[in-house]
Amino acid sequence: MIAITGATGFLGRHLVEKLRNKNIKCLVRKEDHGFKNVKTIKGDINDKKSLDNFTKGAEIIIHLAAVIDHKDKEEYKKVNTEGTKNLIKACKKNKVKRIIFVSSMASTKTHLDDYGKSKSEAEKLLLNSGLDVTILRPSFIYGKDSNSMKKLLEFLHKFKVIPIVGDGEYKFRPVHVDDVVNSIVLCINNKNSIGKIYNILGKTELTFNEFIDMVCKKYNIKKRKVHIPISICLPISSIGSMITKNFPLKKTFVLSIKSGTTGSIDLAERDLKYKPMSFSEGLKK
Ligand SMILES: NC(=O)c1ccc[n+]([C@@H]2O[C@H](COP(=O)([O-])OP(=O)(O)OC[C@H]3O[C@@H](n4cnc5c(N)ncnc54)[C@H](OP(=O)(O)O)[C@@H]3O)[C@@H](O)[C@H]2O)c1
Repeated sequence: MIAITGATGFLGRHLVEKLRNKNIKCLVRKEDHGFKNVKTIKGDINDKKSLDNFTKGAEIIIHLAAVIDHKDKEEYKKVNTEGTKNLIKACKKNKVKRIIFVSSMASTKTHLDDYGKSKSEAEKLLLNSGLDVTILRPSFIYGKDSNSMKKLLEFLHKFKVIPIVGDGEYKFRPVHVDDVVNSIVLCINNKNSIGKIYNILGKTELTFNEFIDMVCKKYNIKKRKVHIPISICLPISSIGSMITKNFPLKKTFVLSIKSGTTGSIDLAERDLKYKPMSFSEGLKK
């Protein structure tokens, strides 16, 4: 049986659709999860009892549950790092050896933001756990019902111009949700993927400026980009965070953005036969 955490999220719902005809069970927090004909276990990644129930009888865990955007930075640690620790303990107790963890390229940056740090720490816990671990590191995931894309579009509509931190020339490779789902499926029966870490990126490497231009073109947004130098963003974020804990422009974010989220997919192509689509193909889906 395949047991999935984070099944109710954006990526999780796409994965459940793909694995619908397999023997799966999903950890869900709320009663109104909307799944039909899918086995669910009510629980929380921080509730050890429900994790015991969830891992019992599972042959493989696909761990997607995470907090990716939260005002309270303690939540990243609590859910992403401590939650993963709880899951490892439950796996050991119930003799579940195999786990596929969806981490993030955010865990690879030189300056880690709170989210990236929590994912990086979860990776370390898993790699040292003695379990048969595969780690997948997607970049920005887009596609139907993507929260990240929804938030980006809200942001693009919010101001008269499009404010961009720094020169926007940092590179990244957005990945379509179907490609991330495929990468997970490709790992399930692939023993060669055990102990490996794969970057799961789209086919196209873009600068952030190019990415914004393509999104604006697709959604017919006609606005000018305004680049705000990092040297200005940094003091704004420092002063803002002194005034309010929830100031949206975080210093760690400003520092981390410069490192971009690009990388090589050679290993995934070789081991998994992973073949992602281009960004223009993905935007049409
Ligand atoms: N979206 C991206 O661009 C992106 C990029 C790189 C990596 N990733 C990684 O991909 C994975 C899935 O991301 P996503 O975009 O699908 O995120 P999402 O839509 O925010 O879904 C997060 C999932 O985690 C669950 N969850 C949160 N806190 C939990 C807790 N305390 N106990 C149990 N479950 C909990 C949520 O349950 P509820 O439905 O009950 O809230 C939901 O099912 C995450 O691990 C994320 O780090 C995402």
